Amino acid sequence: MKRILLIVGGGIAAYKACELVRLLRKAGHRVRCVLTESGAHFVTPMTLAALSEDKVYTTLWDLKDEAEMGHIQLSREADLVVVAPATADLLARMAAGIADDLATTLLLATDKPVLAAPAMNVRMWQHAATRRNVAQLRADGVTVLEPDEGAMACGEYGPGRLPEPPAIFAAIEAALAARDAPAPLAGKHVLITAGPTHEPIDPVRYIANRSSGKQGFAIAGALARLGARVTLVAGPVALPTPLGVTRVDVETAREMAAAVDAALPADAAVMVAAVADWRAKGAAPQKIKKDGSGGTPTLRLAENPDILATLAKGDHRPRLVIGFAAETEQVIDHATAKRARKGADWIVANDVSGDVMGGDANTIHIVTADGVESWEKLPKDAVADRLATRIADALD
Ligand code: CTP
Repeated sequence: MKRILLIVGGGIAAYKACELVRLLRKAGHRVRCVLTESGAHFVTPMTLAALSEDKVYTTLWDLKDEAEMGHIQLSREADLVVVAPATADLLARMAAGIADDLATTLLLATDKPVLAAPAMNVRMWQHAATRRNVAQLRADGVTVLEPDEGAMACGEYGPGRLPEPPAIFAAIEAALAARDAPAPLAGKHVLITAGPTHEPIDPVRYIANRSSGKQGFAIAGALARLGARVTLVAGPVALPTPLGVTRVDVETAREMAAAVDAALPADAAVMVAAVADWRAKGAAPQKIKKDGSGGTPTLRLAENPDILATLAKGDHRPRLVIGFAAETEQVIDHATAKRARKGADWIVANDVSGDVMGGDANTIHIVTADGVESWEKLPKDAVADRLATRIADALD
């Protein structure tokens, strides 16, 4: 038996929350419902009270409840907080940390894991503001389910439908199981590099590449969720730091090499950064002018340290060293050669032909001593989760 605090937001899909309560009760869980003001336009407190066999909470200003049980206690006595349906407005207020009604106050006050099942019009789901809010919530550790795709009550078609109650129920069981499982990477230190490096040419120009840093950041978050202590050495990217991750910001390859060295020892290293192979020899102290005054317009290059190879062949080699390779052709052959050349245990190779780095889904190949394993077209978060689990197995 687990205790679920179910927050029911407004929207046509709120009726599905009733079925979810029924499934949770049938599985033996206790469900306590909180109905938002707009949610109450779609389902009644009476329905939820009957199905949950418990009192339903609707307002922060119910003084009797505050005397019986404060909102802090209400938010913490649960094993899991579930928001279904989570409207665009509710997700936005959660992401911003607004606490202007009972539901959002509980969400801000809770110290328990939170799972949100969104439901909204397809345009609202795809709007940049919602994308931003969902990314922020995920970075904050909230599990935000993907909505279903299909015909919507408003007549449009696309992603935005509340997942069916059995799917939400399965996600709840998975979240509860994850909470109970011992963290497989507890006590392990994992070092990650991510993003591009910027190699100055003069005070305003630099050599760089198109790396977005998203994959490395996702891996850092996934490893932290498995209980690892994670040090993320990040090149210049404007991404939020994943929950529970220690971040060290750097600009150049040489700074990245020094930060990696300073973070050792580590049990595993995942080198996701797209390190510039070359830097400008003797960056000009002043802006180089078109006519050549203030510095030479001829760019002379010096080779950067290979951070991965140095680590893999060094005295403080982590037990597991993983490199990445973004390739546009002969992906597996190049990755296999790279693995041997750099002394890495695994190379995670992705095919970036026809795609730009920073795309949202990747087919990747993991080249190890035992051969090649391929994962077809997976979103970066899914790659991160699978890789983190594989790392945990390897370090076990
Ligand atoms: N890498 C590194 N330091 C460098 C260059 C690369 O740590 N100076 C790491 C990357 O983080 C990645 C792996 O090595 O994990 C492969 O990077 P890549 O740029 O593909 O390798 P290169 O050796 O530069 O090979 P090439 O440019 O010939 O493909």
